[in-house]
Amino acid sequence: MSTRVAILISGGGSNMVALARSMTGDHPARPVLVLSNRPDAGGLDKARALDIPTDFVDHRPFGQDRASFDDALQARLAEAAPDLICCAGFMRILTAGFVETWTGRMLNIHPSLLPKYRGLNTHARALAAGDAEHGCTVHLVTPELDDGPILGQARVPVQDRDTAETLAARVLEMEHRLYPAVLRRFVDGETAPLCLP
Ligand code: GAR
Repeated sequence: MSTRVAILISGGGSNMVALARSMTGDHPARPVLVLSNRPDAGGLDKARALDIPTDFVDHRPFGQDRASFDDALQARLAEAAPDLICCAGFMRILTAGFVETWTGRMLNIHPSLLPKYRGLNTHARALAAGDAEHGCTVHLVTPELDDGPILGQARVPVQDRDTAETLAARVLEMEHRLYPAVLRRFVDGETAPLCLP
């Protein structure tokens, strides 16, 4: 029996594509649902092109009511019965109640070397701090934002002429290598942090 993976997205879904493409052949997992909080997320079309079931739960009608949005998300996820959730550019803060339902079974990728730069604008913040290296982290999701046990990190040297955009592009390339590698190890029961390159 394959491990069933649901992927949560909000945007273009390039990490989702990298994950989905990795889950083929003798890989022990398969994508069973790509779920977005935005009906117009570009990643939904990409998932359909990969023959993965897709759906969305639009967060906007819920306003500030995060708990009700998370209940709707949970109901849709339950239909797909995933074993694991991979957040891949999912830009909603999840309630503690939702996160606790998935303790130890929900992964996230974040574009910084955590614990540095939780939250947004990570690339600009790394440049402003004069960091010599930057990167990305895959971690288990816990109720605290961008926290939780680290499953893998990939480092990217910062170059003199980097802008937030050029740095983001190089980090994203590493995200596409790191996330599938960490997922594969995690499904095989390996939780010791992976370091790339
Ligand atoms: C990625 O860089 C991901 O690390 C980041 O959003 C981007 C999504 O790109 N996630 C976060 O900032 C979460 N806090 P994608 O939609 O092309 O995968």
